[in-house]
Amino acid sequence: MSQEQTFIAIKPDAVQRGLIGPIITRFERRGYKLRAIKLLVPDRTLLEKHYEEHKGKPFFEKLVGFMGSGPVCAMVWEGKDVVKTGRAMLGATNPLASAPGTIRGDYGIDLGRNVCHGSDSVDSAKHEISLWFQPAEIQQYDRAIEGWIY
Ligand code: TYD
Ligand code: MG
Repeated sequence: MSQEQTFIAIKPDAVQRGLIGPIITRFERRGYKLRAIKLLVPDRTLLEKHYEEHKGKPFFEKLVGFMGSGPVCAMVWEGKDVVKTGRAMLGATNPLASAPGTIRGDYGIDLGRNVCHGSDSVDSAKHEISLWFQPAEIQQYDRAIEGWIY
């Protein structure tokens, strides 16, 4: 059984719009397992590490300002191919280009407020999970039918 994990964060816009439930529901219904969850306002140090690859880009300051503007719902989801599938469930970065049926394509229209973050590779997922969570915050539990529901 794949133990792949990804870091998913519901951004301040979606928290404020009451979209935590619908987004969690999509991951649960797909068959993924929630291993960790918390609401926090990330500080600048955390956001600079999280978005390190974008440092120096023209949108960086606005991005960090937005992500620190209110609570974010940070999560770890686990299951088969969850990094790649999680990105597919999010849709394209710019919500105007995201297909209907995706999270960004159903809930967003603004590139600067694109609802949800998802790790883009297994390596970045490991890195992001270690930035946002302590090991003790990640829970281990069984679901009904281990093997195909994770
Ligand atoms: P990026 O890592 O390219 O996208 P993704 O979130 O799909 O991995 O960019 C990080 C975030 O930065 C993105 O979700 C929204 C914001 N952003 C902008 O505000 N303007 C831009 O031109 C880009 C590329 C991203
Ligand atoms: Mg990215």
